[in-house]
Amino acid sequence: MAPKKRTAVLISGRGSNMMALVAAARRPDYPADIVSIVSSRPDSSGLAWARAEALPATLVDHKAYASREAFDAAIDDVLADAAVELVALAGFMRIQSPAFVSKWQGRQLNIHPSLLPAFKGLNPQAQALAAGVKISGCSVHFVTAEVDSGPIIAQAAVPVLDGDSAETLAARILAAEHRLYPEALALVATGRARLIGDRVEIGPGEAAGGGHGQAQP
Ligand code: GRF
Repeated sequence: MAPKKRTAVLISGRGSNMMALVAAARRPDYPADIVSIVSSRPDSSGLAWARAEALPATLVDHKAYASREAFDAAIDDVLADAAVELVALAGFMRIQSPAFVSKWQGRQLNIHPSLLPAFKGLNPQAQALAAGVKISGCSVHFVTAEVDSGPIIAQAAVPVLDGDSAETLAARILAAEHRLYPEALALVATGRARLIGDRVEIGPGEAAGGGHGQAQP
């Protein structure tokens, strides 16, 4: 098996997607290792969880930095120290500087709780309810300068049910996020997800070459 991709997860809050990625990466056959968890906030419960699990977790408190650039440079130092190759944003609530985005272009993922390009930005579940859509979901995409707009790697759909509140819809989408994000990170870590211009194409898996005797979809 190819070496596992050294991956950092950047969080600001609860960190449930980070936990899903950590759980996936504990599988011996998973193609990425979570070698660094960075929180932008000291009160993040995800950071407390990562520390309790004795994972390599670092606080880079955004309030301690005078500018976006200085904050991003501090994060970049943490990533360099851990020899990080891929970055997964998971509820990371800071807009990144153009320099950071361009440095990690094609190597930085984000998850957003809507079927992009619908409902970018804040409160996408409430936006979905207000629009009256019958299907919503979540998207994993490469990070580009424009928020929630980068090339889409993978998506999962969930139904919007009569009587849903933003909270019940968010919970249904979150369960899908926890399945989708590990799958999408694996697609990138194995090199199956390839950036072709503004689109991501999913190439065949190793097994399609005859390695393990089973065809991949
Ligand atoms: C998730 O819904 C994610 O899609 C969005 O922020 C939320 C973070 O939740 N970007 P968690 O911190 O991963 O639990």
